[in-house]
Amino acid sequence: MSKPGLLVLYGSQTGTAQDTAQRVLRQAKRRWLQVRVLPLDSYNVSPLVVFVCATSGQGEAPDNMKNFWRFLFKKSLPVGSLSRLDCAVLGLGDSSYPKFNFVAKKLQKRLVQLGARVLLPVGLVDDQHDLGPDAVIDPWLSSFWEEVLLLYPSVADVAPLREDEPLPPTYMFHFLDDVKEEVDHRLRSTEQTVPSASQAFPARLVSNRRVSDVSHFQEVRHIEFDITGSNIQFGAGDVVSMRPCNAPEDGRQLCQLLGLDPEARFTLRATDSTAVPARLPQPCTVRHLVESYLDIGAVPRRSFFELLSTFATNELEREKLVEFSSAAGQAELHSYCNQLRRTALEVLADFPNTTAELKVDYLLDLFPEIQPRSFSIASSLQVHPNRLQILVAVVCYKTKLFKPRRGLCSSWLSSLDPEQGEVRVPLWVKKGSLKFPKEQDTPVIMVGPGTGVAPFRAALQERTAEGKTANVLFFGCRSQSKDFYFRSEWEEMTEAGHLTLFTAFSRDQEEKVYVQHRVTENSALLWDLIVNQRGCFYIAGNAKQMPASVSDALRGVFQQEGGVSSEEAEQMLVAMERGGTTPERDVV
Ligand code: 2AM
Repeated sequence: MSKPGLLVLYGSQTGTAQDTAQRVLRQAKRRWLQVRVLPLDSYNVSPLVVFVCATSGQGEAPDNMKNFWRFLFKKSLPVGSLSRLDCAVLGLGDSSYPKFNFVAKKLQKRLVQLGARVLLPVGLVDDQHDLGPDAVIDPWLSSFWEEVLLLYPSVADVAPLREDEPLPPTYMFHFLDDVKEEVDHRLRSTEQTVPSASQAFPARLVSNRRVSDVSHFQEVRHIEFDITGSNIQFGAGDVVSMRPCNAPEDGRQLCQLLGLDPEARFTLRATDSTAVPARLPQPCTVRHLVESYLDIGAVPRRSFFELLSTFATNELEREKLVEFSSAAGQAELHSYCNQLRRTALEVLADFPNTTAELKVDYLLDLFPEIQPRSFSIASSLQVHPNRLQILVAVVCYKTKLFKPRRGLCSSWLSSLDPEQGEVRVPLWVKKGSLKFPKEQDTPVIMVGPGTGVAPFRAALQERTAEGKTANVLFFGCRSQSKDFYFRSEWEEMTEAGHLTLFTAFSRDQEEKVYVQHRVTENSALLWDLIVNQRGCFYIAGNAKQMPASVSDALRGVFQQEGGVSSEEAEQMLVAMERGGTTPERDVV
């Protein structure tokens, strides 16, 4: 029997499943298989498929498998329609969420139902695993290759490529001597279509203001974009996505380490059937590649070390890199990289001899692509037509490393200054998970401490513009004078009778006061709004324990005011969640 062509399909939201799919691809290439990697929505028929799919916090399928998901669960699909498919499912999830690896489990079940032959039990990778995701991925992949060998004995005809030899690069760089005008695809006009990840709209940055006091520990910015002519529509609860860029100095440092001229222009040619990334202009400058495409500031994964080690000629560096690439070296790698949040660029600087040996053709294999980041939209088109606003906390923290760690997107956004000339940010909008009631009189109760208030500002603007005045907001921050975002707006709404506001300033007094305390204090009002008036209740924010504590407080409200047992209170909460009235964790 000839060798199978392997198709690796991934459903990925943050890039982890895509990275894992690439890992399967490399292992397949070492076994000389014809292999392709595609997002699940590009599914096409193939006799042997590996599905790698992530499950997000709420048990949802990632965006790039939504169409496939709808197709697969069509009632009209006949049982037996996948009877010629051999497949395996690897799920990426987080067991701290209730719907752990829900998508992968459901997928495997459905594939079996449709007649596919699954080669091994679904792999359940867990972010919470002490030894990292590889503790599940490695043995699962070994079992998978054993099954493939049983099914296609011809795979064993040629010995696999050794681990210390690099696979051919996915792309070859072809440097140009001429100086053609660069076409920047990021800025192309999208007048006729609704902007999406593959065709973002270059929104003009209108303003970028710090809204937390300068003495506050965190820089929080209120950023406004002009989306005139974009066809972008959004409602309260929706989310905007964008791809950040690396800091120019980081791009320059990478060029220096690699001995590359940032101004050099190149075109890419794929060495197999992989498409050239549509987001990269052709020709492209090295500067554009290193600033806007390669994720050089992320903590590198094991695959980074696997590839890097194949270039090492310096014995000391080689030994270390091989160790980091090995299963046995993962704890060491974790303490070198993950614990300290060491970036890929910093790693290259730590291995200068190897980096100097690195061939430019491998850059797109070495670094993943910069992934989009999402923010809750903080404004309503009804109040700010043609505008889109967000509230961004600039992520910056110390580890044992000298330089502070910075969030890529928030630092990049904070660096953009519309006063210094026109700034355009390619963006697109997606439906969010928060949905607000259409009925005029249904009360809405929102709990949004910190930047969690962003989607609620959009909701309050939208609702007050529509004359919906039954609104309650619980807002929490550290101090009334330092991080009380949109204070004057809340005060105006309160005066107009459109809002009831409760605040919790956690550090303005000795004792910590949090939003959940305010929930408890207002139990009679909440009982009336939620139970008598059938109000909707929402939670958004990024303090980890906050949603659980607010839910606890709400259970307490039900017990106190309704005299119900704790089990009944729990059931009431579950019923509220089913009814789509949260508590939800938001993306802010
Ligand atoms: P703290 O930083 O003083 O602990 C917005 O970040 C607000 O959320 C701050 O006032 C912060 O308080 C508060 N916060 C932090 N952890 C929280 C939790 N578990 N529950 C509720 N609020 C919390």
